Amino acid sequence: MKLLVTGGAGFIGANFVLRTLEQRPDVQLTVLDKLTYAASPATLAPVADRITLVEGDIADAALTDRLIADADLVVHFAAESHNDNSLADPSAFVQTNLVGTYTLLEAVRRHDVRYHHISTDEVYGDLDLDDPSRFTESTPYNPSSPYSSTKAGSDLLVRAWVRSFGVPATISNCSNNYGPYQHVEKFIPRQITNVLSGVRPKLYGDGRNVRDWIHVDDHNDAVWTIIEKGEIGETYLIGADGEVDNRTVVETILELAGQPRDAFDFVTDRPGHDRRYAIDSTRLRTELGWSPRYTDFRSGLSATLDWYRDNAAWWQAAKGDAEAKYATTEQVIG
Ligand code: NAD
Ligand code: DAU
Repeated sequence: MKLLVTGGAGFIGANFVLRTLEQRPDVQLTVLDKLTYAASPATLAPVADRITLVEGDIADAALTDRLIADADLVVHFAAESHNDNSLADPSAFVQTNLVGTYTLLEAVRRHDVRYHHISTDEVYGDLDLDDPSRFTESTPYNPSSPYSSTKAGSDLLVRAWVRSFGVPATISNCSNNYGPYQHVEKFIPRQITNVLSGVRPKLYGDGRNVRDWIHVDDHNDAVWTIIEKGEIGETYLIGADGEVDNRTVVETILELAGQPRDAFDFVTDRPGHDRRYAIDSTRLRTELGWSPRYTDFRSGLSATLDWYRDNAAWWQAAKGDAEAKYATTEQVIG
């Protein structure tokens, strides 16, 4: 099978590539990635002779047409993915997440290629802390940030291309991922690498916001389950019942690193900060038989801390730039 993975040099895409090569020797794999600041070609270096890495933009119609003409399956991870960046400058988000997805859809439409679209639970907006409900496949879209609104728009393009043109596509919306090879701008790697660098972790606002954590390998196993067993045109929510508030995440990281649980700072809140995400993945579990393997968040977090401690060379170069960006907006408030 010839597989084209977009964004395969980013966090989730690279984990997907590594796991696919490990588990599916029959797959011939091409990665299309623009190699933005968020990419890490170093992650793919150990498998460089087993994949074709094409540096390019998903919004380049001639390039995507050529690559997709030769593919049996496209798995689309590429995106601008960080909410804080989308608040500072949304333009790349509109271009990549909307125009880029449109460009891929036109190519899969022309060549009738199976397409799986990777998306986020953020398209549903947020829930109150005391709301007992969780997101399901029928929750109305209500995105809050430039990032999540461009992801919501990209999902709607996919739905329209399925209905109007019969494109053979599926969509998955997953909750917050953690694990190895995640960029240091994101919450968990930022706090882990702060602690490893002797810097106090930074909690936005009151630290009570809740995210529904899932290990990246569980996400990627779910993606393969949907590709193999999912119904064309359908959406599946991916989540591992991992709701934890941000303060507890930071306290756990500090404790695992042998530091006082209160050695963190509260900083300026993110504008429009979504309060809580929570996924009900019953459909994926009952209809397609998927279930997560990483059900103990503390031990997954501990393994992730060990990974960043053992792989400082992987993240150190990006850390300075990421912190310099935060320093322009962030102030300690408590
Ligand atoms: P990431 O930022 O780590 O990686 C994104 C990759 O896409 C990078 O390698 C980057 O170079 C590439 N890219 C960006 N613009 C491109 C373009 N125009 N053309 C080609 N490549 C381009 O992101 P991630 O966290 O791995 O997220 C991957 C996907 O999963 C995204 O679609 C994101 O919306 C979705 N998602 C992420 C999470 C999460 O917790 N990180 C959860 C649910 C869904
Ligand atoms: O829900 C899925 C989404 O999860 C994905 O679609 C996004 O691509 C991914 O970036 C992630 O979005 P979040 O905004 O939830 O993730 P982030 O890592 O930026 O922040 C997680 C929580 O931690 C959020 O409530 C903001 C907070 N935070 C973040 C940072 C970077 C802090 O308190 N301090 C920080 O320094």
